[in-house]
Amino acid sequence: MCGIVGYIGLEDSKEILLKGLEKLEYRGYDSAGIAVQNKEGITVFKEKGRIADLRNVVNMDVMATTGIGHTRWATHGVPSHDNAHPHQSTSGRFTLVHNGVIENYAILKREYLSDAVFKSETDTEVIVQLIEKFSNEGMDTEEAFRHTLTLLKGSYALSLLDKENTEVIFVAKNKSPLLIGVGSDFNVVASDAMAMLQVTDQFLELMDKEMVIVTQDKVTIKTLDGEEVFRAPYTAELDASDIEKGTYPHYMLKEIDEQPAVMRKIIQAYQNEEGKLAIDFNISEAVSEADRIYIVACGTSYHAGLIGKQFIEKMAKIPVEVHVASEFTYNMPLLSEKPLFIFLSQSGETADSRAVLVAVKELGHKALTITNVPGSTLSREADHTLLLHAGPEIAVASTKAYTAQVAVLAILANVVANFRNLTVDLDLIKELGIVANAMETLVDAKEEMEEIATEYMSVTRNCFFIGRSMDYYVGLEGALKLKEISYIQAEGFAGGELKHGTIALIEEGTPVVALATQEGVNLSIRGNVKEVAARGAHPCVISMKGLEEEDDRYVIPAVHELLSPLVSVVPFQLIAYYAALHRDCDVDKPRNLAKSVTVE
Ligand code: G6P
Repeated sequence: MCGIVGYIGLEDSKEILLKGLEKLEYRGYDSAGIAVQNKEGITVFKEKGRIADLRNVVNMDVMATTGIGHTRWATHGVPSHDNAHPHQSTSGRFTLVHNGVIENYAILKREYLSDAVFKSETDTEVIVQLIEKFSNEGMDTEEAFRHTLTLLKGSYALSLLDKENTEVIFVAKNKSPLLIGVGSDFNVVASDAMAMLQVTDQFLELMDKEMVIVTQDKVTIKTLDGEEVFRAPYTAELDASDIEKGTYPHYMLKEIDEQPAVMRKIIQAYQNEEGKLAIDFNISEAVSEADRIYIVACGTSYHAGLIGKQFIEKMAKIPVEVHVASEFTYNMPLLSEKPLFIFLSQSGETADSRAVLVAVKELGHKALTITNVPGSTLSREADHTLLLHAGPEIAVASTKAYTAQVAVLAILANVVANFRNLTVDLDLIKELGIVANAMETLVDAKEEMEEIATEYMSVTRNCFFIGRSMDYYVGLEGALKLKEISYIQAEGFAGGELKHGTIALIEEGTPVVALATQEGVNLSIRGNVKEVAARGAHPCVISMKGLEEEDDRYVIPAVHELLSPLVSVVPFQLIAYYAALHRDCDVDKPRNLAKSVTVE
């Protein structure tokens, strides 16, 4: 995680760096810093807390047209002033910001730096001290930087300033994302194009194990062997207004509200000229030919994958396994003969998912990435990509990306079923349109959702979500939303499983949210609700029109049963939102989390 920016040009760099860091706060927000360089030298400003806290300590009188910046999500060392980046070498000649994890930092410290005095607990400080060591031994900065890079094991995106080389930012990347933004009399560095859209929409991709020498008017990319690489910039297709909150108090609320529009955009994006759902022929073919599909993902995306499995198995009749990426890498299941891997990732940068992609590519298997970010690492490195078309998602708690993933998986399953000449009794374009309208009704029901949040979540320490079949998977997502932003301990359970242990936790007044949208299991889930109510629970049943009963707390509009997760998740998102709001939690930036998890 962590976000990096850099600027070298003719203008004062401080505001550009700070604005850039504000756009990268989703990557981590426990401490932040900038280093700016002018003829007098390098000045570092850093602070524990948010970019707003950093702003308070930046001396706006220091003018400097070169600078680097960092917003941190702590891995090595607690969030503190000393552990905040940038870090400097002992003499103060070199200043560095880093996103990633150096796995062999302790070995390097022992082997090369036993005499150095360290000011932080970070792995990053080892890098900057190594550069100084090799420079003291006679290497020029580029050589010292390159030599250091060859010693590092792990992931890094780096930007380095050298006091004796005022016209350059040295940059390198391995596994962590990093882009160079190109301007007419300046160049910039950023973990994500969003950070530098304020000054340019022209970006250069970097590949792993490349280093870059960035000056005000030139960008030189080299491999670690010193060979120059030529690459043309691309235009970032991002609208600056997409990344603003507008009149909304929080990005999360804006993104929940955007879901009906995202559904309509997806329907449009995946329709061909004849008005039929379509995806790239090669993708349909690759999926159809697989004897088993492995969906690999983390967090909310994993929950979307569980729904996707149902779509693919029910419509396209191909067996599917869904795996948490961090487990898959080290505990690979026995694979089928002709597997196809689907990587589900909003950001396309999640390190755990990427580790699996690298491993399965090495085995020679084919991969499809479903992501919201074109050009992201997982998209570039897979054989195929399907885009979510959800627009930038900024709130750490994922909402519209989840529903977009579910919708795109439904389209994939449907198109593959047609490709395989299977009959599917579902007019998906029409049904997704109905879903979009139902979502509209739900986002307009904010007052009711706020009342539910007040009634059930105000004082509770814990909460259970139960459901069966599709509703169980949505319950997992509902519980994740609630816990990550309101800090209420919440768990999702299969209705039938609760009585095998967890029911012991039910006390007088424990909220149990039950979802009832599936006709075949409606009576069973109702039975589970009775069981917990008999033990003192405070049940909150959310049902679908047609299956409702008298005491249900909310009835969602009827949609096709298979697509119900797209709609039933919306009340859960809103309940979590209001629960967090009433508890004075930082909705968009919950504690300890980051949106893009680029460390394993
Ligand atoms: C983090 C975020 C989650 C997200 C997960 C996977 O944990 O906080 O919201 O679901 O990463 O991210 P991805 O970008 O791969 O979907």
